[in-house]
Amino acid sequence: MVVTLRPEIAALPPYRQGRMASDDAFKLSSNENPNPTHPAILAAIAESNLNRYPDGAATALRARLAERAGVSIDEVHVGAGSASILYQLVQAAAGAGDEVVYPWRSFEAYPGIVTVSGATSVRVPNLAGGLHDLDGMAAAITDRTRVVIVCSPNNPTSTLVTAAQFSAFMAKVPQTVLVILDEAYFEFVTDPHAVNGLRELENHPNLVVLRTFSKAFGLAGLRVGWAVGASYILDAARSAAIPLAVTEPAQLAALAALEVEADLLAGVDDLIARRGRVVAGLAEAGWSIPDPHGNFVWFATGDESTAVAAMFEDDGIVGRVFADDGIRVSIGEEGSVERLLSSAARVVGTLPRAVENARLG
Ligand SMILES: Cc1ncc(COP(=O)(O)O)c(C=O)c1O
Repeated sequence: MVVTLRPEIAALPPYRQGRMASDDAFKLSSNENPNPTHPAILAAIAESNLNRYPDGAATALRARLAERAGVSIDEVHVGAGSASILYQLVQAAAGAGDEVVYPWRSFEAYPGIVTVSGATSVRVPNLAGGLHDLDGMAAAITDRTRVVIVCSPNNPTSTLVTAAQFSAFMAKVPQTVLVILDEAYFEFVTDPHAVNGLRELENHPNLVVLRTFSKAFGLAGLRVGWAVGASYILDAARSAAIPLAVTEPAQLAALAALEVEADLLAGVDDLIARRGRVVAGLAEAGWSIPDPHGNFVWFATGDESTAVAAMFEDDGIVGRVFADDGIRVSIGEEGSVERLLSSAARVVGTLPRAVENARLG
């Protein structure tokens, strides 16, 4: 006899983490920040009272984020990574019989989050070039739709939604449908036309914006993300949360990170410059890739993806392969740039069909 489980959960593949790399390889599979942790953050963590439970309301951090975003503290929510907040928001808004619309391919956690809530995923394929099909997403909304997720920059294609595209899209979404704008990579965007969720909030009461300390702020290991939106929506997310999940070290580290934000954003500027060198080097080698706006690049290598990923790995570059679709490679340490570029040039000579696939997007 075995215990009866929800069949859709039993069938769900567990979240696939970016592959670890051997000592002489670069782990570029999880869009992590390669910069060393700032000493002020390390000092803040050392102040934690590990014998005590954390402040479950993350009051100091929320107050600071609220001040920064120009909203009230009730319009800010903090979770153990923005992935936690995604879970909470989807649970709060959607259940059995409901639909959640999102672009695909996008963040690989979205399908599991929807399945766990009991709702049904409605995936809208990206356009050529990895862009969201926002018209298709709007057209996919039905009476059963409770949530729509927009991801900008999109993981894994690194493409952007512009402010104009977002406004046109929101005009088509009923105000009873929750829109989650996932901006995990916001700080890596330099395009002045890009959407900035915090600026959109006053026009769209059904919008919740997600940001994270995991990427630009380099705190992936501590798990802290935040959301801004209407307080009644975030109250529902808080009700769906596991109590006290955001630890005190995470809260103190996030507060310290905001204190030294200028230093951390200088580190982001270095990564953006490195990304520029990767883009230029790939173009020179004959690759076409979507213009990247996150801390990662996307090779739409299609049915050659597994073969390309194997060649990258032979050369010490561990990316994230999505079989028959593409490979995502994070912008990592300085030493990874030359390694990636020489490997990518080797692929051009060895697997020309992969490069042709990428050109067609
Ligand atoms: C698009 C996107 N959203 C959310 C997350 C979750 O980030 P975290 O839970 O670390 O805040 C990630 C992580 O890779 C991501 O790529």
